Amino acid sequence: MLVSAKEMLDKARAGKYAVGQFNINNLEWTKAILLTAQECNSPVILGVSEGAGKYMTGFTTVAAMVKAMDESLGITVPVALHLDHGSYEGCYKCIKAGFTSIMFDGSHFPIEENVEKTTELVHAAHNLGLSIEAEVGAIGGEEDGVIGKGECADPDECKMIADLGVDFLAAGIGNIHGKYPANWEGLSFETLAAVNAKVGDMPLVLHGGTGIPDDQITKAISLGVAKINVNTECQLVFQEATRAYIEAGKDLEGKGFDPRKLLAPGFEAIKAKVKEKMELFGSVNKA
Ligand code: 13P
Repeated sequence: MLVSAKEMLDKARAGKYAVGQFNINNLEWTKAILLTAQECNSPVILGVSEGAGKYMTGFTTVAAMVKAMDESLGITVPVALHLDHGSYEGCYKCIKAGFTSIMFDGSHFPIEENVEKTTELVHAAHNLGLSIEAEVGAIGGEEDGVIGKGECADPDECKMIADLGVDFLAAGIGNIHGKYPANWEGLSFETLAAVNAKVGDMPLVLHGGTGIPDDQITKAISLGVAKINVNTECQLVFQEATRAYIEAGKDLEGKGFDPRKLLAPGFEAIKAKVKEKMELFGSVNKA
């Protein structure tokens, strides 16, 4: 059931668990995540970066695929289709395409411009019943060619953006996209606690979910994080499973070259990873 992400995240914040945002790249990813959410009776957010949207031939294609698949599979758990790290133009494209949620990432703009554009997009999204996420403080690392330095958010700026009526807020707390380097210092719980104290009941978003140790995830949830984004980890398990299939020569046996066979181990690996994360985040049976 396609819905905005507001209600599921308000409930998660109040119930002290988090809903996973898993980024999608194609049909296999989408199907694996939707089926796992249904099996786990968990709400879920399908994240689409601007790059992945382009890869799938545009946001209209993505929205049509997700809507049709949600119906064909008989998915009854709440599913939000969410733009990840959207540009100003990308947000409008997704609103038009039928997404149920958007993220406007204005973190690279001066705070005044972030405020101005976020304000406008909050109205545009809410007028049509979509939820909206905003960001303060850059998330480091690289995602789809967008490189961020990774800086901790200023709690006062978080309050300023939260007060514009956004539904959930991504605050940089030392998290980065992709794999964490060996010398990573861990999440800044000091920053998270300060942001949490400023923004009231606002569900907070933790980007860069790949590779954050379980105890830090649990602690972040206890400090107001209600949405956790995972992308690279699903890509890595898909790649490992596909490599193992080919290295074992299974693509050369019988009709092992059939894409439905070739992609099956990766598909199953994504399902297992998503289930593991839903259990860790506490969203199982919270649909
Ligand atoms: P990872 O790729 O590090 O899991 O980050 C995902 C993310 O934050 C998407 O916005």
